[in-house]
Amino acid sequence: MRNDQDLAPASKLNAPLLAMLKGVDGEWVAAGELAQTLRLGEQQLEREIEQLRGLGFGIEKEDARVRLVDAPDLLYPDEIREGLGTRIIGRKLIAYDRIGSTNDAAWDYAADGVDEGFVVLAEEQTRGRGRMGRKWYSPRGGLWMSIVLRPDPPAERATMLTTAASVAVARAIRGYPGCNATIRWPNDILIDGKKTAGILVETRSEKGLRGTFILGIGVDVNCRDLPEELRAIATTVARHTEKPIRRTELARLILRNLDELYLRILRGEHASICEQWLSMSSIRGRRITIIQNGRTYRGEVVDMDPVAGLMVRLDRGFVRAFKGEHVTVVR
Ligand code: BTN
Repeated sequence: MRNDQDLAPASKLNAPLLAMLKGVDGEWVAAGELAQTLRLGEQQLEREIEQLRGLGFGIEKEDARVRLVDAPDLLYPDEIREGLGTRIIGRKLIAYDRIGSTNDAAWDYAADGVDEGFVVLAEEQTRGRGRMGRKWYSPRGGLWMSIVLRPDPPAERATMLTTAASVAVARAIRGYPGCNATIRWPNDILIDGKKTAGILVETRSEKGLRGTFILGIGVDVNCRDLPEELRAIATTVARHTEKPIRRTELARLILRNLDELYLRILRGEHASICEQWLSMSSIRGRRITIIQNGRTYRGEVVDMDPVAGLMVRLDRGFVRAFKGEHVTVVR
């Protein structure tokens, strides 16, 4: 199901040429200098420039000089990696153009033994999935990515990973003016009360994959024309910010946050992550109704426990913990 012909167009572009053009911040560069440094013949350079233009890069040519005036919002792994500075997350990235689900691809890569922190991105998913087997609408313009994780020691970490990923995504979105992202338990990120991102942590029990987690993150960054059924409950980040959003930048912000939080998880420093989660979720003290295995529970949220999950003082008087994986929340 993974086919390298399906790699994102940006994965195939001439990275050194682009790096040289970007390195001078839109200034003119002599074509001869480009050709010489990149060891390209004149015609080959011309072809590479045409290829970049074909991908949507605005490149001007005048008097044997070349300059980059515009760059499209493509998922370009080298650009995401630029200045990423993470220890584990995103040391290697791959971007597909169109794929079934980045979570499935990440499982394949995990089975092949890729290093922890490997990231799979896609411009578009044809079988994106959400929590509880739901379909996840994933057209172009969104940020769809999955990360291979193998926390050591491999304790019960799914709850903590969802918690950390929610904080990482909400914090990154909050960096854009006008985007006051909040967290809704168990795995939604909202802006102005509408869902803009979701998180899906998966585990498998097959031999060789035990202890591996695939962390899937989907952010509706700039998907135009949401389907009718989503319009009332979902929103895009771009709709709330004046500034256009480059998905590579948002991806970098999320991966950086995630790396920092993941290192904290590995050190066992869970409390501060839960505190950040609580401060962005405003769920503490709220009444909640949860359906789990066909039973309905009502009560008041008292805390978020890194391992046990959401702590709810039930109307019957005692405190019960709920993990997010198999619950429905009634609002
Ligand atoms: C949810 O809110 O139900 C979770 C949605 C998770 C969607 C992401 S998009 C990238 C990754 N690949 C998938 O198929 N799903 C996750």
